Amino acid sequence: MKTSSTSFKVACLFAIAGLSMGIGMAASQDHTLMPAHAHLNLLGWVSLFLFGVFYRLHPALETSRLAMTQIVVWSVGTAFLTVAVAALHLGHAAFEPVAAVSALLLLGSLGLFSVLVFRSGKLPQPAARVMTAAE
Ligand code: HEM
Repeated sequence: MKTSSTSFKVACLFAIAGLSMGIGMAASQDHTLMPAHAHLNLLGWVSLFLFGVFYRLHPALETSRLAMTQIVVWSVGTAFLTVAVAALHLGHAAFEPVAAVSALLLLGSLGLFSVLVFRSGKLPQPAARVMTAAE
């Protein structure tokens, strides 16, 4: 599967979970999990969707193993960080190491993404689309 499509699909799954969590918090008037909700939406929905846009704009990266690794590591890091942040705010201090490792996964993934962004100027650009009279 293309990296952009993977990003968009996983981002939608995170958004469904994040919005459901928000609705649950609003309905119960218990905002304890607000930091987990915010991280899930911003890392899982907004950031992942933006990665997808970047990959869609750079077709040479659509089949890149490095780009796919970046997306997978980001998704795993987001899932574990969300669970750890939620657990910590519910008073389970034992989740501290999970939060630390997932934060490092996210940092590593962003490092990888930064390398791809900095290198992207050298990538072959897609051919310009020529409009025909029928269009
Ligand atoms: C169905 C949709 C959503 C619902 C019902 C919802 C609900 C909530 C609730 C109840 C809070 C707690 C507010 C507080 O305690 O002050 C909150 C906080 C937050 N939400 Fe959502 N949310 C939704 C979607 C989103 C989305 C899409 C994003 C980001 C892309 C987002 C980002 C945040 C952030 C960053 C906070 C923390 C705000 C602060 O620190 O004051 N939420 N949300």
